[in-house]
Amino acid sequence: MQKNKPVPLFKVFMPKSVWPPVKKTLFSGYIGQGPKVAEFEKALGKFIGNPLVLTVGTGTAGLQLALRLAGVNQNNEVITTSMTCTATNWPILAAGANPIWADINPETGNIDPASVARLITRKTRAILAVDWAGYPCDYQALKKIARTPEGKKIQIIEDAAHAFGATYKNKKIGQVADFTVFSFGAIKHLTTIEGGAVFVKSKKIYQRGKLLRWYGLDRETPQKDFRCHQDIKDWGYKFNLHDIAATIGLEQLKYVKDNLKIHRSNARFYRQQLKGLKGITLLKEKKDRLSAYWLFTIKVKKLNQFMKYLKDRGIDVSQVHARNDKHSCVRQFKRPLPQLEKFIKEMVSIPVGWWVTKEQREYIVKTIKKFCQA
Ligand SMILES: Cc1ncc(COP(=O)(O)O)c(C=O)c1O
Repeated sequence: MQKNKPVPLFKVFMPKSVWPPVKKTLFSGYIGQGPKVAEFEKALGKFIGNPLVLTVGTGTAGLQLALRLAGVNQNNEVITTSMTCTATNWPILAAGANPIWADINPETGNIDPASVARLITRKTRAILAVDWAGYPCDYQALKKIARTPEGKKIQIIEDAAHAFGATYKNKKIGQVADFTVFSFGAIKHLTTIEGGAVFVKSKKIYQRGKLLRWYGLDRETPQKDFRCHQDIKDWGYKFNLHDIAATIGLEQLKYVKDNLKIHRSNARFYRQQLKGLKGITLLKEKKDRLSAYWLFTIKVKKLNQFMKYLKDRGIDVSQVHARNDKHSCVRQFKRPLPQLEKFIKEMVSIPVGWWVTKEQREYIVKTIKKFCQA
């Protein structure tokens, strides 16, 4: 069966029930950022437990907005991870700031707080942490580091593109960092085709964020003639979400809890079944946080052979993201990252999402066990 019907690593979730509300919005006379965006933000705020939510056109735009709101400019450094999608780091370049690569914890793939601490300078304005595969970083340790002895508070920006629905110390991700950015791209837990959201912690920043995602214009106070009389004091972007995407998002929210349950049940199964296999190492997990398992990443000694073995047997596997510091556009920021170096030689992700059936996950485990015995 698996030869002709491979198990994919990603799959778009799009329930048929999106169609009637999408049709309604499409012909409602309002398709830009309007009432559906407001409704979606309210529902997202309720789901995450933080009403200060700014939806945006993509997760990448959300990161760019978050960096701006955090005060990052061309005089600053942002301590970040190279073990991520380029979407995490190119917004730092767009802000004119320097990305400073911290090393990772090879047991999780997440940024290592001890490495971050060694890189703080007077120029550090923000720490950008990515929840690899959906597993939250050590925010308690990062928050401690973010308060410098001089009393400066470095802003923590969490790239939670993989982590919708994850929890940290009994709080939903979106309530923890100064800024949390989600992606609602095509293959994410919750998709609006393209889209994203930035969760913030202060009302003042939230109000500024609303202006900056739309050129810097106030779209809420009643105006004399459209928005012609306004003076823009703080220029902004065109980063908003639109009502069609928000309509899809509202429908998706109804399913996301159940889908997350399947991601987690498959991950639990893998953790039981793959534990202790020769040549395979599971990533470490702490009891105080719960991954959203956008990916299920493992470390494998004979990586290339493993990937070929599984692909030949109809199981889609991938490293998903390449280290960002390999690109020539960031050549000048290169520095040694020994733990990341080791991690990347072994890590790979196997299918874990809502589409993976019990039969398929058993087949995946059986195939991995056979590889380990060979
Ligand atoms: C870690 C990470 N950050 C940010 C993004 C960017 O999200 P978007 O595609 O919505 O711009 C992605 C997309 O996959 C991602 O994996």
